[in-house]
Amino acid sequence: MKKVVLAYSGGLDTSCAIKWLEGRGWEVIAYIGDVGQGEDFAAIEKRALSTGASKVYVGDLKKEFIDDFILPTLHANASYEGKYLLATALTRPLISKHLVEVAHREKAGAIAHGCTGKGNDQVRFEVTARILDPKLEIVAPVREWEFKSREEEIDYAKRLNIPLNVTKKKVYSIDKNLWGISIECGVLEDPYAEPPKDAYQMTVSPEDAPNKPAYIEIDFESGIPVKIDGKKYGLEDLIERLNKVAGKNAVGRVDMVENRLVGIKSREIYEFPAATCLYAAHRDLESLVLDRELLHFKQSLEYKYAELVYYGLWYSQLKRSLDALIADTQKNVTGSVRLKLYKGSCAVVGRRSPKSLYKEELATYTEKDKFDQKLAEGFIRLWGLPFQK
Ligand code: ARG
Repeated sequence: MKKVVLAYSGGLDTSCAIKWLEGRGWEVIAYIGDVGQGEDFAAIEKRALSTGASKVYVGDLKKEFIDDFILPTLHANASYEGKYLLATALTRPLISKHLVEVAHREKAGAIAHGCTGKGNDQVRFEVTARILDPKLEIVAPVREWEFKSREEEIDYAKRLNIPLNVTKKKVYSIDKNLWGISIECGVLEDPYAEPPKDAYQMTVSPEDAPNKPAYIEIDFESGIPVKIDGKKYGLEDLIERLNKVAGKNAVGRVDMVENRLVGIKSREIYEFPAATCLYAAHRDLESLVLDRELLHFKQSLEYKYAELVYYGLWYSQLKRSLDALIADTQKNVTGSVRLKLYKGSCAVVGRRSPKSLYKEELATYTEKDKFDQKLAEGFIRLWGLPFQK
């Protein structure tokens, strides 16, 4: 029997996909990637087996997700269209890489995923798999089957005794991990409609947040966040801790219309509580320790970096080359940043660093001033010279 490794979430689509693939002669191995979505993996594993998977893998991908995907993207300050912090986009190449590895181990000839034909995730899964092993076949059941509605799909699941915990009314399509959550569909499809309160999962509304600001201090060492308020944390704990504090202060919400790779615009809402704090702090610390040319050049690459991630080109040569350059810029990104979280805003209110390039004796307007203002005149003459008639 030919074998396929399916990226399995435990939801309706990927559960139906198991049966659908079986019906087409595949032996299905389910792969569940733990990227910090905080679900009951034992229950999901059981569901996969009782639906018909011949074997289940649960991969704890959290450390790899943080070290190899989140950190480089944070170092790049990469946000798609200036707003989306790429939480979902980052997990796809990671999971796909593991699908390919399991396929090799199990001598499977194919991988499968439960993405629709309208989204970006299918592109990320497939482009990654093709880069890593072009010989593997790729099957996308959701793109092929012809359920006209969710109701029809649920009826199919019931007919085939697929164990599910779904209701006919599913309000949103949600993808969650340690770095954030993506929420779409339902009322959100009207881009003019304000997202209802219940759409958000990781943050409270600004009006429900405390009336007093929360101050936090984040320490970085060579670009890596290592402490909160002077206390050392491993990265997973640090991110979880920030998700809590920021979420409680309504920090990290994004509501946007974005341009998908497949050509359509879509309205999505996101929550990135920890990531929002870390991006703000990291970006600010860079402004203190990177010289002007390096900072500006780096900034000119950040937009491109985000596009590459969004477009599924994680394993491209350009992305790798940018990583090498960006990694080199992080050596001096060491220091502390103070953030003020208040009713949805995340403001940097202080920064300091042993590698600081800020020189008070040059910037000051007091008697401590050491800046030789006489030098400015000659500098300006020469600077403007090429442009004079
Ligand atoms: N639009 C985002 C992206 O392309 C989020 C996708 C969310 N996926 C989902 N299954 N809800 O990365």
